[in-house]
Amino acid sequence: RKKITLTTLGSMYKKREPIVMLTAYDFPSAHVADHAGVDMVLVGDSLAMVGLGLADTSEVTLDEMLMCCRAVARATQSAFIVGDLPMGSYEISPEQALASSIRMVKEGRVHAIKLEGGRSMAPTIARLTAAGIPVLAHVGLTPQRQNALGGFRVQGKSVAGALDLLADARAVQEAGAFGVVLEAVPEDVARVVTEKLRIPTIGIGAGKGCSGQVLVQVDMAGNFPPGRYIPKFVKQYGNVWGESLRAIEQYKNEVKAGEYPAREHTYPMKEEDVKEFER
Ligand code: KIV
Ligand code: NA
Repeated sequence: RKKITLTTLGSMYKKREPIVMLTAYDFPSAHVADHAGVDMVLVGDSLAMVGLGLADTSEVTLDEMLMCCRAVARATQSAFIVGDLPMGSYEISPEQALASSIRMVKEGRVHAIKLEGGRSMAPTIARLTAAGIPVLAHVGLTPQRQNALGGFRVQGKSVAGALDLLADARAVQEAGAFGVVLEAVPEDVARVVTEKLRIPTIGIGAGKGCSGQVLVQVDMAGNFPPGRYIPKFVKQYGNVWGESLRAIEQYKNEVKAGEYPAREHTYPMKEEDVKEFER
């Protein structure tokens, strides 16, 4: 498979071929995503919850992100790798964002970074793109700002809200972002924003009018215990958790019952040598 670059993504966008993005946080999850042929892998700060068991994204550190980015980069042959700048690593100034992004590229081996925010982040996006670091922006529901947003709620639902979202999307485009994630916005709003931009929109909970889609891998693969909340926009394509549980329970039961390991799982020794050894 060929390496996906910004040029490849640009030509997909021109041809209106939907761009497929999926999160990965470690070697195995990146390996399977890359083998499946996704166009972009996102080392998302959703790592905080789904990979580290933290309450929200605000606790994950740049160093933790870097370790995961490196693991993802080792497994990824073809997909374009985007890494999230975690909360606290970029808001203070464009210089802080640049220093963090350089670490993401040099140590994390990502091809681009993602950061949350619209108009307020435009100077930062301009600084990063001027330094040659591609930026994927993220507007609408921005989980790092959940406390300011009053929780996880659909964004851009009113005309005023939709106009705000459009202004944010235009600002990140003018600042040089190569694309923008639209999270949890009405389908029609996402469609119109997509039509008005000349960079791809990557939707999550934003309908099919976007230029591409992104999902959290554990959500779409069904790799979570029963009863865990998953958002309405997730389609569950598998039951990886259930399959792991079945396999691990069977292993446990077979060891307890003395059925595993069987003869075929063992290394032989010549019978006369065994006898001599036993003596
Ligand atoms: O952290 C993440 O996984 C994300 C995507 C869901 C867009 O930001
Ligand atoms: Na994120």
